[in-house]
Amino acid sequence: MANIVIIGTQWGDEGKGKMVDLLAENADAVVRFQGGNNAGHTMVVGGRQFISHLVPSGILQGKTCFIGNGVVVDPAVLIEEIEYLQNNAVACGPDRLMISERAHVIMPYHKMIDNGREALKGDSKIGTTGRGIGPAYEDKANRSGIRFADLMDEDFFRSKLEALLPEKNFYLKGFLKVPPADLDTIYGQYVEYARRLAPHVTNVSVALDKLIREQKQIMFEGAQGTHLDIDHGTYPFVTSSNTLAANACCGSGIGPKAIDAVIGIVKAYTTRVGGGPFPTELSDATGDFIQEKGAEFGATTGRRRRCGWLDMVLLKNAVRLNGITGLAITKLDVLCGLEEIKICTAYKNGNDLLHNFPAGIETLTGCKPVYETMPGWEEDISAITDFERLPPNAAAYLKRIEELTGVPVQIVSVGPRREQTIVLENPFRTG
Ligand code: GDP
Ligand code: IMO
Ligand code: MG
Repeated sequence: MANIVIIGTQWGDEGKGKMVDLLAENADAVVRFQGGNNAGHTMVVGGRQFISHLVPSGILQGKTCFIGNGVVVDPAVLIEEIEYLQNNAVACGPDRLMISERAHVIMPYHKMIDNGREALKGDSKIGTTGRGIGPAYEDKANRSGIRFADLMDEDFFRSKLEALLPEKNFYLKGFLKVPPADLDTIYGQYVEYARRLAPHVTNVSVALDKLIREQKQIMFEGAQGTHLDIDHGTYPFVTSSNTLAANACCGSGIGPKAIDAVIGIVKAYTTRVGGGPFPTELSDATGDFIQEKGAEFGATTGRRRRCGWLDMVLLKNAVRLNGITGLAITKLDVLCGLEEIKICTAYKNGNDLLHNFPAGIETLTGCKPVYETMPGWEEDISAITDFERLPPNAAAYLKRIEELTGVPVQIVSVGPRREQTIVLENPFRTG
């Protein structure tokens, strides 16, 4: 296989960062294609933890990394991340990290609007990360966004800001009742960012096309997860981009025939951070056990993640929507010590039994999970790297996931470190 998309199948935080870092060993390039610094991807290498928000998780393996046109970039966060990596001896120069000239820029007023709106919504808030993601994508769709190409031309950038700010400030002051944005301050800051990042800015589509023609192996690193997708997720409790595998193409500027495989990352249970329905959520001691054992706190905002059982209605939805060819099951180690483990196989909604994910948010909120129960295991599995050595009940759980999804489990993760992994089938050409 040559070009692979890595995608979250649930509501994000499935362990994409660890998988991308691990598989990047055999990749030539790694590409982010959507989202922004709402993402928090954790890698644990040589006993040290790195969390990347914008820089693709292939950077620690020394691979060429790209931020595609579909990403919304907060330049201050990106500069901070580059400097952090460089200070920790990770090469992150313009030959290693490239940014699309078509990527949209997150502006201070996007963050102000994101946070101002959430404050106004009170209890009905989405629970966004507050990073300005939604308002930046709104401006993109509204054709009033600022792209890296615009930022590179200082006079053009100033004229765009002059045209945009009156409307933004009208909304900030008049509706959100927050202080307005100041043109000179923003202009001064962003011109500095532009000068700092200019050597990284390029035509990513052309660069990827060259790699594809040279038969190089490219990994596309999804952010968020299938059920946070703006079209197919639990709308309106979603993010503002398409998180599905198909967007790897639009968000980076390649054609769909270049993709050879789609690996779905599946946490062995389910978590969600922020608001929105969650049919298998556990508000009991088992939920607390998983939350504590799995250290389920958001890598971006530090919020406590809600926890629950594995949901097959959700997972089968992700398999279909993304065309998933292989599964990577993560955090299997967290489930050890539970007497029994449940898998949700359908939803009960009144007298109806649902096997497909409903579109109506009220319907989903009313759905009750139908479970099948499997025996758990006591043994610590966090040092196991060979499938045959897993406790029989852990192996049976994985086999059941394969049966129910019809997709092979290719990788099993049993701990946060790169080495704590069972690779049954490497989706990349190795050697
Ligand atoms: P991402 O957003 O999908 O990259 O996932 P996050 O990094 O936000 O959250 C996953 C968390 O689980 C991180 O703290 C990882 O270090 C950790 N992690 C990943 N895989 C495993 C695993 O197999 N077992 C355990 N115990 N932790 C894991
Ligand atoms: P990674 O890539 C988990 C959630 C937020 C909120 C909703 C909208 O680390 O898996 P936004 O700021 O995007 O407008 O927030 O989406 N969310 C995530 N949840 N993991 C993420 O990214 C997320 N990115 C956004 O909590 O519910
Ligand atoms: Mg995360």
